[in-house]
Amino acid sequence: MNQQSKVAVIGAGVMGEALISALISSGVNPNHITISEKREERAQELITKYSINEAPLAINVSDADALLLVVKPQDMGSLLEEIKSTINPSALVITFAAGKTISFISNGLGTSNPVVRVMPNTPTLVGEGMAAASMGVGVTAAHHDFVLGFLGATGKVIEVDEGLQDAVTATSGSGPAYFFAFVEAMVSGAKELGLSEQDATTLTIQTMVGAAKLLEESGKSATTLRENVTSPNGTTAAALASFNDDKLNSIVAKAMKAARDRSQELA
Ligand SMILES: NC(=O)c1ccc[n+]([C@@H]2O[C@H](COP(=O)([O-])OP(=O)(O)OC[C@H]3O[C@@H](n4cnc5c(N)ncnc54)[C@H](OP(=O)(O)O)[C@@H]3O)[C@@H](O)[C@H]2O)c1
Repeated sequence: MNQQSKVAVIGAGVMGEALISALISSGVNPNHITISEKREERAQELITKYSINEAPLAINVSDADALLLVVKPQDMGSLLEEIKSTINPSALVITFAAGKTISFISNGLGTSNPVVRVMPNTPTLVGEGMAAASMGVGVTAAHHDFVLGFLGATGKVIEVDEGLQDAVTATSGSGPAYFFAFVEAMVSGAKELGLSEQDATTLTIQTMVGAAKLLEESGKSATTLRENVTSPNGTTAAALASFNDDKLNSIVAKAMKAARDRSQELA
């Protein structure tokens, strides 16, 4: 695998587009990217926007050195059935479908193509994603570098054993929704304290964005930063004591276990 390799993107929806953009940012020539997408209007939009190519599924799959499977989990079984007889036997297969295991992909294809399973998250759409990749049998060092290379252009990427993908789903996959739920709770709390919806929203969102940047750019831990804004017997201490009384840590841990368990069930 190298930047001259031919890459097929199957399913060019929301996540497919983010990945096309990442492939190009990581140095893959747009001329070497070919999409297959059910919705022709959507395919044309992306061809114009990124100067990539389009091909019917069977041709795309037989030509490609790497295949990015970016369809919804419920469409994956029928997609594998459609491509199993035409896939290039040495092509790297990279699956992004939540809950679909490497063995599901290999069994569905009935081939020994190397498979990488990736769990991305929605901030990928703004270049601040968090992805976790698990390498299947037969994945070479070149495949590994290619995958981590382009995923690095979507935000950050780590490598995990596949057995931990359900825990990853419960952390970074579903994590953005926990954050949004916390924003909703703070906006609602601020309104109860008398602020308008607009002011409550502005104050909450900018506080979250600023705190996240401070966490990333200061190099300090969340614990240190929390302690820095908490003076003894002050206002923050009063709020944190209330969180503590209501067992915030166990509420969050219980919710994450529920997400992990649901991910296991869906797989
Ligand atoms: N969006 C996210 O932030 C996110 C986060 C984590 C994981 N993921 C994973 O990424 C995958 C894609 O999600 P998405 O949100 O990008 O979905 P999406 O917007 O629905 O995009 C999938 C696209 O693939 C097309 N498609 C389905 N079967 C096809 C086939 N056989 N050949 C060619 N095209 C086909 C669909 O067309 P039709 O609509 O006509 O069926 C659709 O345009 C999912 O498996 C999801 O679990 C997404």
